[in-house]
Amino acid sequence: MAGLIPEEKITEIKNLADIVDIVSETVVLKKAGKGFVGLCPFHAEKTPSFTVSPDKQIFHCFGCGEGGNVFSFLTKQTGCTFPEAVRQLAARYGVEIPERGVGPGGAPVTSEREKLVAINRLAAEFFRRELVSGPEGQRAREYLAGRGFEAETLKVFHVGYAPSQWDLLARHLGRQRIPEALLLASGLVLPRRSGRGCYDRFRERVIFPISDAGGRVIGFGGRIIGEGSPKYLNTPETPVYSKSRSLFGIHLARPHCRSSNEVYIVEGYLDLIALHQHGIRNAVATLGTALTADHVRLIKGMVGEHGRTVLLFDSDEAGIKAARRSIGVFAAEFVDARYVVLPSGYDPDTFVFEFGAERMAAEASAAKAALPFLLDRAVGTHGLTNEGRIRILADLAEPLAAIADPVARSLYIREVAERTAVDEAAVLEKVRHFVDRLAPPRGRPEATAPQEQGALSRRAASPGDRQERQLVMMMLQCPETLAEVERWRVVDLMENGALKGIAEAMVDLGRRQRFVVADLVAAVEDPRQKQLITSLAMQTEEWDPRGCMRLIRHFVDRQGRRRNQRLEAQIVEAEQARDHQRLERLLTEKQQLAVEQNRRKMKIQGGER
Ligand code: UTP
Ligand code: MN
Repeated sequence: MAGLIPEEKITEIKNLADIVDIVSETVVLKKAGKGFVGLCPFHAEKTPSFTVSPDKQIFHCFGCGEGGNVFSFLTKQTGCTFPEAVRQLAARYGVEIPERGVGPGGAPVTSEREKLVAINRLAAEFFRRELVSGPEGQRAREYLAGRGFEAETLKVFHVGYAPSQWDLLARHLGRQRIPEALLLASGLVLPRRSGRGCYDRFRERVIFPISDAGGRVIGFGGRIIGEGSPKYLNTPETPVYSKSRSLFGIHLARPHCRSSNEVYIVEGYLDLIALHQHGIRNAVATLGTALTADHVRLIKGMVGEHGRTVLLFDSDEAGIKAARRSIGVFAAEFVDARYVVLPSGYDPDTFVFEFGAERMAAEASAAKAALPFLLDRAVGTHGLTNEGRIRILADLAEPLAAIADPVARSLYIREVAERTAVDEAAVLEKVRHFVDRLAPPRGRPEATAPQEQGALSRRAASPGDRQERQLVMMMLQCPETLAEVERWRVVDLMENGALKGIAEAMVDLGRRQRFVVADLVAAVEDPRQKQLITSLAMQTEEWDPRGCMRLIRHFVDRQGRRRNQRLEAQIVEAEQARDHQRLERLLTEKQQLAVEQNRRKMKIQGGER
C-alpha cells in the first residue's frame, strides 16, 4: 500500500505514533471518560462529537462518520497521500526510512508535494540571504525598517528579498539540478514567452514565506518596495499551496491561541507581523482571499469549542465587505465571531504602531457580534434620515434572517427596530421574506450516523443485524473475547456481510498478533468498513465476561434455530418435488447442524461454569 516503504517501518511508526498527540496539533481535545472529545475537523458542528481513543489508537466522529487510525487522520486532514503521512510521522518520531526506489536522476523517490516543499525551503533560504547580505538587500531592509519592523521580527518570519534580475532564483535552483518542470510547478518561475528556460515570478520584492501548520514552507507573498502595482504577488495555486486553506502565521500562532483561547484574524502579511512585533502573537492572516470554511475549521482547531475569534479588518470599504462576507461562513460553522472596526484610515498594522498593543487589546475586547457590527456600519454609512433608515433595513434583513437561534434573532430585531425607530412588526415583515428563502432542510445531519446506513444496508437493522452488531462491538471493545468467538465459530454463523467481514478480519489478525483497533483499521481496505469499525469501537458499552458469554450463546442458539428452520422448509420443498438427491443432501446437512449445535452448546455451558 505504501509502495516503497518497508512494511516493518510502517508497523514501527504505527506503534510509536500517538494519535492523541497528532490530533491535538489541529484539534483542541478535552478528556472525556477513557478518551478525548473535540470539534470535528471534517464537518461543521457546534458541540463536539469527534472522539479519540488512546487505548485503541483510533478516532471516530459520531457526527459525520469519519474514522480511522493515525494515518487516516493525517491523509484526511492534510490531503496528503498514505506514504506522505508515513514519512511525516517517521520524521517526527525519528524513524529512518531506507529509500529502496530511486528516481530517474538516481535521487530517492519522494512525492511531488514533498519535492515542492523542499524547493520552497531552498527558495526561502535564498530570499533570506538576499535580504540579509545580498547587494540589493539594503534597500529592502531600509524600507522595512522605515515602517518600523525590527530585524528580530523579520528573522522570526523568515522575511526575505527577491532581487531585480530576471532569473537569479531560476539559475540558483537550476544549479541544484532541480528539473524545470518542478520549478514551474512550484510557481516560483514562469516559462519565457520566447525561447527556452524560465524567469522568476518574484523580482524586486520583499518576500514573505507562507507556512502550513507544521512550519513547512508552502508558498510566498511578495510586496513591492514602496508604491506600485500590483502591490502584492502571491504563489499561485500549486499542489502544496491553496490560498483558501492557508493562514499566514499559523505555525507561530497555534501555541499562543491555545493558551489564550483567542485568535485574531487580520487581512495582511504586515498587519500580522506588526501585531506579532507588539507581542500579540495569537493572530493569523487570510491572504488576499475571502475567508472560507476551511479557514474557519483551522481556526476552530486552534481555539476550540469555547474559543474567541476576533476579526480585525480595515475600516475601508473592502475590509467591511470582507467582514460582511465572513458572517455567513462563521455561522455555517457555528462560530460566534466578533468584529472590530478600527478608526477610519487605520489597519491593524498602522493602528498598533501608532497606539500600541494595549489600545489594540482594548479595541479587541470591545469587539461586537456580527449583527451589532453590521448595524453600526449601516447607521454610519446611511445615516438616520428616512432614506437612510430604509437602506439600513434593506442591508440588515438578510443577515437578521440568517441568525439560526430564534431568541437571538428576535432580540436583534428589536435592537434594529429601536435604533432605527421603525415599528418592530415592519422589521419582522422584511426579515420574514428572507427566512422563508433561507430555511434549512429539516433534520440536522448531526443527529444521524450516516456511516451505518450504508454499511449496514439502508433498511432498518433487523434483530439479527442488531445482535451481530453487538457481537462485533464486543469483539472490538474486549479483544479477550476473540478466543471464545473463534472457539464457537461464531463468525461462520454471521449473515450481515459488512459485519461478518470485520469479524473475519479481526479473528484473522488476532491469530497472528496482539493488536489494537488501529491495527484492524490498517488491515481492512474499504474506507466504509474502516468507518464502521471505528464507529462500533467507540460506542460506550459496559462488558462483563458473563454478559459476553450470554451474548455468544444467544446468538449461536438463535442462528442454529434459524438455520434449522430454513433447512426444514427446504426439506419439505424437496419432498414435494420428489427430488431425492437434494432431499438426501439436506437431511445430511440437518444432521451435521444438530451435531455442531450440540457441540457448541456443550462447550458454551462448560465455558460458563
Ligand atoms: P492591503 O492592500 O490591505 O495591504 O492588502 P496591506 O497588507 O495593508 O499591506 P501594506 O500595509 O500596504 O504594505 C491586504 C492583503 O491582501 C492581499 C495581501 O495578502 C495583503 O497583505 N493582497 C493585496 C494581494 O494579494 N494582492 C494585492 O495586490 C493586494
Ligand atoms: Mn497595511
